Amino acid sequence: MITRVALGTVFMVATLMIVSFTAIDEPARMAQFESGYHGRSVEAGAALYANNCATCHGPDGKGIAGRAPAINAADLYNGTRFKEIGWSGTTHDYVHGAIAGGRPRASAAFADYPQRMPTWSREFGGPLRPDQVNNIVDFVMNWEETALLEVVAEKPSDFVAVGLDLKDPVLPKGDVAHGEKLTQTYGCVACHMNPDMNVAPGPGWPAKYYSGGVSIAERAATRFTAADYTGNATSAEEYLRESILQTNVYVVPPYVANIMPKIYGEQMAAQDLADVIAYLQTIK
Ligand code: HEC
Ligand code: HEC
Repeated sequence: MITRVALGTVFMVATLMIVSFTAIDEPARMAQFESGYHGRSVEAGAALYANNCATCHGPDGKGIAGRAPAINAADLYNGTRFKEIGWSGTTHDYVHGAIAGGRPRASAAFADYPQRMPTWSREFGGPLRPDQVNNIVDFVMNWEETALLEVVAEKPSDFVAVGLDLKDPVLPKGDVAHGEKLTQTYGCVACHMNPDMNVAPGPGWPAKYYSGGVSIAERAATRFTAADYTGNATSAEEYLRESILQTNVYVVPPYVANIMPKIYGEQMAAQDLADVIAYLQTIK
């Protein structure tokens, strides 16, 4: 009897240990599963891309003159093309929509291509299953990061990226005119200077392009004190610095996270960031 109780106890403890170990490891296993799944999806997408898309968009997505535009290109991901097409959702949904539904009618930007972008998903009468379309989307979206980093590829040899911190390094005095130019170079204007507030992917900077009727300079001066503010800034400059470098720390309502690229800490030198912030603070 005593041995049976002891055995039973040992058995119970062992079971509990196994169960709790599995439970502890569950998030790690899920993450591994998901990244493995994503990897396989990208691979499947690569094969589908080579067979169905490369003839028009080129094997590496850089486009073929007279046939189809580059899709491994910064302007697809930095908001420039969203603005041309009038899109205000996420990049993922934009790419998915373009592939699944095709563009039976030419968009203004690409009207001179003789052939149209075909419809691919069976949902819309195309040849591929929806899961195959998702594989291709995963493959194409894999280009996003490298394409965005190519935008301002030429850097002086002594370039030092400003990084993500809100206080370090201390920023030099900014040059407003140069800051304005940089917002064009970096493609900020595609999302932030769109007169049509219904389609703009991001909050407009001038008061007249913002639904609340206040400019970015005024918003920056007060927003870090608002009750729903979730970031770490304690001044207007820090608020702008945070908005540019750590775009998801505070997401301006009603906009959504992950639309604004998270590349500027790597792309900008301290002087560039100072110039952009100085310019933003002059906008009426
Ligand atoms: C017959 C040539 C052709 C083929 C094949 C083709 N495309 Fe396209 N694609 C185009 C053209 C032309 C456009 C520009 C359409 C427009 O905006 O009017 C385009 C647009 C796109 C866009 C949107 C680009 C933007 O800036 O808005 C994506 C994404 C895309 N194609 C992905 C794909 C993928 C993935 C495949 C393979 C499943 C594919 N295409 C196959 C011709 C093609
Ligand atoms: C693809 C679109 C896109 C691009 C490109 C983009 N942004 Fe944004 N930006 C957004 C969105 C969406 C938000 C709102 C969500 C959030 O707070 O992250 C935002 C928020 C901001 C804010 C806070 C605005 C407010 O009302 O408080 C600032 C400042 C800002 N961006 C600056 C920049 C600068 C500077 C650049 C270029 C260096 C840039 N953005 C490029 C989409 C974009």
